[in-house]
Amino acid sequence: MKVLIVGSGGREHAIAMSVAKSSRVDKIYCAPGNAGIGQIAECVAIGAMEFDKLAAFAKENAVDLTIIGMDDPLVGGIVDVFEAEGLRVFGPNKAAAILEGSKAFSKDLMKKYHIPTAAYETFDDPEKAIAYLKTAKMPIVLKADGLALGKGVLICSTLAEAEAGVKEIMMDKKFGSAGNHMVIEEFMTGREVSVLSYVDGKTIKIMSSAQDHKRAKDGDQGLNTGGMGTFSPSPFYTKEVDDFCRKYVFQATVDAMAKEGRPFKGIIFFGLMLTPDGPKVLEYNARFGDPEAQVVLPRMKNDIIDVMEACIDGKLDQIDLQFEDNAAVCVVLASDGYPVSYQKGFEIRGLENFEGKDGYYCFHAGSKLDDSGKIVTNGGRVLGITAKGADLKEARANAYKATGWIDFDNKYMRHDIGKAIDEA
Ligand code: AMP
Ligand code: GLY
Repeated sequence: MKVLIVGSGGREHAIAMSVAKSSRVDKIYCAPGNAGIGQIAECVAIGAMEFDKLAAFAKENAVDLTIIGMDDPLVGGIVDVFEAEGLRVFGPNKAAAILEGSKAFSKDLMKKYHIPTAAYETFDDPEKAIAYLKTAKMPIVLKADGLALGKGVLICSTLAEAEAGVKEIMMDKKFGSAGNHMVIEEFMTGREVSVLSYVDGKTIKIMSSAQDHKRAKDGDQGLNTGGMGTFSPSPFYTKEVDDFCRKYVFQATVDAMAKEGRPFKGIIFFGLMLTPDGPKVLEYNARFGDPEAQVVLPRMKNDIIDVMEACIDGKLDQIDLQFEDNAAVCVVLASDGYPVSYQKGFEIRGLENFEGKDGYYCFHAGSKLDDSGKIVTNGGRVLGITAKGADLKEARANAYKATGWIDFDNKYMRHDIGKAIDEA
């Protein structure tokens, strides 16, 4: 069969690698893709938000299945456009992708269906938000309602900071229309765990857990980024936590969406915080995490096409989802200066070192082929270097060893990805 993947990051490279392993697939397209994806798929120069062009491409090329990797097209309704054309597509439709697209929606859903999350209020008037802050306990968390590239969350330790935050989000519109509404919520403490799942509208199957490292610098210092590295599984995601989430979070969310007339088909990503009062939902995403996909997918034993088709057809209950009994670590190689400002266009050397190395992966996030045929840096996050190991410590040692196989000007990485493993 022929498969089209929509997106261009390390997550889409990991999806493409999983799809390439399927014996049922003989052709992969990726729009727009990147230089690494181009080694296993044919990249197509259509942007992820050009829904009509993408659907026309899928029709003309007799694509059997389209997989949407990114949040923006999902929230924008790409799945509805494909379905209206009679095309098979993996991902939630617009009515369901609101689970990620609106934090006010997801918080109200959790409140209505008693799914554990931080206490909160929603606002569409900055003056009312500021009046509320004057009565609230600090620190406090401000969230722009809509998509903001993972940057629409401000943690404020004083009232003055919080008032300035409301102004930034709602009046100066720092995150654009994402800031028309906002959520103000209680500050929670605890470890964070990412749990990804497949959902077919009624059944949910949980993947192996993972942990991201969102801050730019070692010791969780510096600005929030898209993610500087991940490990899987999380040793903090214990049987007790799993039991709790199966009882109060996972199926409850799927059932809530169905009851609201928004049955969810695709990936639900549960961002959890393990607080002293038990696990609580920080956020939902309607797609694989990036770079969580880079440590979870290489460990999945199933044929990804079988699982995705079961989600589309409402037959996920027939799938026995299985993961390898090992571990994986991903260290992101970024351009120095990310996430603020950085240079691009430097040659990436050493990519050939990954050839034929079982259990090592070099997922491309921001790379491109330049006019002379060289692969060069083309983004803040450039590569996700992933390695497996028998356990987390071995996987971490392998991943850091492999970061040394690659070189490019201004190469930057965190040196403490997976440090938490030592505290488990
Ligand atoms: P989100 O985009 O909602 O995942 O938020 C980004 C990051 O902000 C999370 O990964 C947490 O580290 C932090 N965060 C979000 N909400 C809270 C909260 N209520 N309490 C403490 N930290 C939070
Ligand atoms: N790594 C976090 C995310 O994909 O949102």
